[in-house]
Amino acid sequence: MRIDIITIFPDIFVPLDVSIVKRAVDKGMVEINIWNLRDFTKDKHKKVDDTPYGGGKGMVLRCEPVFAAVEHIKKENKNSKVILTTPQGTLFNQNLAKKLSKTPGLIIICGHYEGVDERVCSIVDYEISIGDYVLTGGELPAMVITDCVVRLLPGVLPEEAPVYDSFHQYLLDWPSYTKPSVFKGMRVPDDLLSGNHKKIAQWRKTQAEKRTKERRPVLYRRYVKGEQNGQKGNRRD
Ligand code: ADE
Repeated sequence: MRIDIITIFPDIFVPLDVSIVKRAVDKGMVEINIWNLRDFTKDKHKKVDDTPYGGGKGMVLRCEPVFAAVEHIKKENKNSKVILTTPQGTLFNQNLAKKLSKTPGLIIICGHYEGVDERVCSIVDYEISIGDYVLTGGELPAMVITDCVVRLLPGVLPEEAPVYDSFHQYLLDWPSYTKPSVFKGMRVPDDLLSGNHKKIAQWRKTQAEKRTKERRPVLYRRYVKGEQNGQKGNRRD
């Protein structure tokens, strides 16, 4: 897969150069390119933004360099899907990450300042928000989307790992522990120390359900519906 990110802050993408994403890049499972939007401007000041028509505060990202960048990248990977990161977008979640991981490529336009010229939306497949809060720009959302998608690509994680992720089957993760078995008087639950695989699986499932029910009731209702419909694989044991 190929991911192209269009930004006015190309130096900020250090987190994509470590850990699992870096390994995936090194193994050739994903190619990540960071493009500086300024390189697609035609004026001598390399102007990427301008004042909004109708007046008002802030600056709006201009459409010409964004179109030029997307057109340039599409010449290299014409089937890429185009994403615009914006607080106005659809909320990002694991299902959307899965869908995006099956595309041949992604072009992520990092929104900025007070907004992006609306005409950019005519070349965008997905407007995506990573949460109901406003960040200073779309770079962090672009990294969140990239990280989430890359770890779902075949071969990036051990085969069964994504199945056990939180949200994979509408359940949050169960609690995890490692050594020592007692720390400051806090004991690891007996079932986890029992060595009995059935007991451990049952304990984890119960804990995941309890947590989800308490912390994310809407998610829990979806999980229960899935269980009632007998959807394969929505048990975590
Ligand atoms: N840009 C600013 N805030 C954002 C958010 N929450 N999601 C996506 N893009 C954004």
